[in-house]
Amino acid sequence: MKKIAVFASGNGSNFQSLVDAEKAGRLVGHIQVLISDKPDAYVNVRAKKENVPVFSFEPKQYTSKADYETVIVEILKEMEIELIVLAGYMRLIGPTLLKSFPYKIINLHPSLLPAFPGLNAIGQAIEYGVKFTGVTVHFVDEGMDTGPIITQRTVAVTGDDDVDTLSEKIHQVEHQLLPETVNLILANKISINKRRVLINEN
Ligand code: GAR
Repeated sequence: MKKIAVFASGNGSNFQSLVDAEKAGRLVGHIQVLISDKPDAYVNVRAKKENVPVFSFEPKQYTSKADYETVIVEILKEMEIELIVLAGYMRLIGPTLLKSFPYKIINLHPSLLPAFPGLNAIGQAIEYGVKFTGVTVHFVDEGMDTGPIITQRTVAVTGDDDVDTLSEKIHQVEHQLLPETVNLILANKISINKRRVLINEN
């Protein structure tokens, strides 16, 4: 089984959807470890309940991003991780991790990129008044939500939506799209031509 590391900072419902997919035999890979930059986040509790090993760290206890990313790279290489999934990891990935895992890091983002990158994408969409938003899974590069797009799915915004109701709709879509996208990658159904990601369903 190909080994996956999930990075998360918060509630971890997407971490849970990956674990649940694996338990149901619907994931091509195995969730080997959770990397968390928030020791108090609920995702840590979920991982313990599911017997997924956790590496939890506080960035401010390191002198630089390169320092903690070096520690993480050592852990991931030791575990022979083949794919890193950012599932609500609210931190930019630095060159140390990027260089060690080229095209092996994917990010889940709650908008149709390139619209509404960065923080509070759902609030930005409500504020702007779009009728459709959605979910994107993309490869991570050095920018903020700028890497090649792998998969996207739309979500309609209705007049009475607020951040909470739209967030709920987006999460439901994410819980499907993220495991599906992981499966496409780990089953080698993805190829990249410049920044266009092609999916070969056969
Ligand atoms: C998800 O909606 C994900 O798209 C978003 O954080 C949420 C985490 O939810 N990620 C970002 O905004 C990254 N910029 P979860 O903790 O319930 O999985």
